[in-house]
Amino acid sequence: MLEDIDKVLITREVIREKVKELGKRISEDYKGKDLILIGVLKGGFIFLADLMREITIPVDMDLISVTSYGNSTESSGVVRIIKDTDVNIENKHVLIVEDLVDTGLTLNHLKQLFNTRGPKSVKICTAFDKPSRRKVDIEIDYQGIVVPDEFIVGYGLDYAGKYRNLPDVCTLKKEVIERR
Ligand code: IMP
Ligand code: MG
Repeated sequence: MLEDIDKVLITREVIREKVKELGKRISEDYKGKDLILIGVLKGGFIFLADLMREITIPVDMDLISVTSYGNSTESSGVVRIIKDTDVNIENKHVLIVEDLVDTGLTLNHLKQLFNTRGPKSVKICTAFDKPSRRKVDIEIDYQGIVVPDEFIVGYGLDYAGKYRNLPDVCTLKKEVIERR
C-alpha cells in the first residue's frame, strides 16, 4: 500500500487541528439545540468519528450510504442511495458530515432530500473541499481543508475501495491510477 503513494499532501497533525477547530465551532453554534450528525458513507466515517469526539454538546448521529463513483476517479453525477438513515430528523438540526466536496452533486442531492423530511435546519460540514471542481453552487457551512485539484486518498478517501485507512491524505503514483 505505502509503495503506491506519491506524496503526503496533508498530515494527520494538520487534519487533527482542523477537526478540533470545527468541533469547537459546532459545539458553540448548536448549544441548546437538538443536533443530529449524519455521516456520509463510506468515506465520511473516519471524519465523523473524530469530529464527534471534538463536540462537547449532546449529539445524536446516523449514517447514510451513497455512491456516485463506481471505480473511476470522475463523478458520474448520478447519486444512488444504498442505505438511508434510520432516525427521524423532523424538528431536528441536521449537520451532514462528508469526507470531501468535489462537484457538489452528492451534497446538493442529500441536502434536498433531507429538507423534504421536516428538519429545523440542514447544514454541511466537510473534512476536505475542492472548490475548483464545483459544478453546482452549494454552501459549505463548516469547511475543512481546501485541497487542490488532485485525486487524493486516505483519512476515509479511497481509490477503487483502497487506501481509506491511510492516516494522512496522500496522492497516488501515476502508474497506480493508470493501472486500472
Ligand atoms: P461530488 O458529488 O463530486 O462532490 O463527490 C464527492 C465524493 O466523491 C466524495 O465524497 C468522495 O467520496 C468522492 N471523491 C471526490 N474527489 C475525490 C478524491 O480526490 N479522492 C477520493 N474520493 C473523491
Ligand atoms: Mg463520499
